[in-house]
Amino acid sequence: MMNMTPADNKTSPLFDFSSKQLRESLGAFATGVTVVTSTTENGEKIGMTVNSFNSVSLEPPLVLWSIGRDANCFDAFMAAKSFAVHILNKTQSGISNKFAQTGIDKFEGMACASGLNDIPILPDFSVCLQCTTKHLYDGGDHVIIVGEVKSIENRNQEPLIFYKGDYLTI
Ligand SMILES: Cc1cc2nc3c(=O)[nH]c(=O)nc-3n(C[C@H](O)[C@H](O)[C@H](O)COP(=O)(O)O)c2cc1C
Repeated sequence: MMNMTPADNKTSPLFDFSSKQLRESLGAFATGVTVVTSTTENGEKIGMTVNSFNSVSLEPPLVLWSIGRDANCFDAFMAAKSFAVHILNKTQSGISNKFAQTGIDKFEGMACASGLNDIPILPDFSVCLQCTTKHLYDGGDHVIIVGEVKSIENRNQEPLIFYKGDYLTI
């Protein structure tokens, strides 16, 4: 058998791809869709659509997501002591699109409950995880936020799925 080292593998040299190719390839990884909310130091509600959410650890209960450094609410999430992750159900593509926009009042007309440290809890979701911010890690043009789960509300609804830049349901 031939002894292959990474340097022999001429078909996939490192970084021989454009960011468009990278984005399209990563889009083949189907994910759920979440809205992550919190409050600024002045008590204003903030939130954004996030599909980088994932599980990390059961004991202790840790989850992660990553935030782009160019997001309007970046500084507020860096300072936030807690946040809520809402896993969206299959009817909520409109909410996903709303929370992916910038410069609008994303919470207009929405009756939110008040969670840990007054973070806004959306009225509709499949699962809501309230978390405290545990670690922040550099992640290139993003920062990886690790949270410790403090409470769970699981309504067991069918998920909204994001795949190749579009929504799917099952
Ligand atoms: C399906 C979907 C998933 C997204 N996932 C992320 C994500 O994981 N991290 C991120 O920083 N932005 C993500 N975005 C983009 C943000 O939601 C978007 O930039 C948002 O406007 C940021 O809010 P802000 O600029 O008002 O702070 C996603 C957008 C969509 C539609």
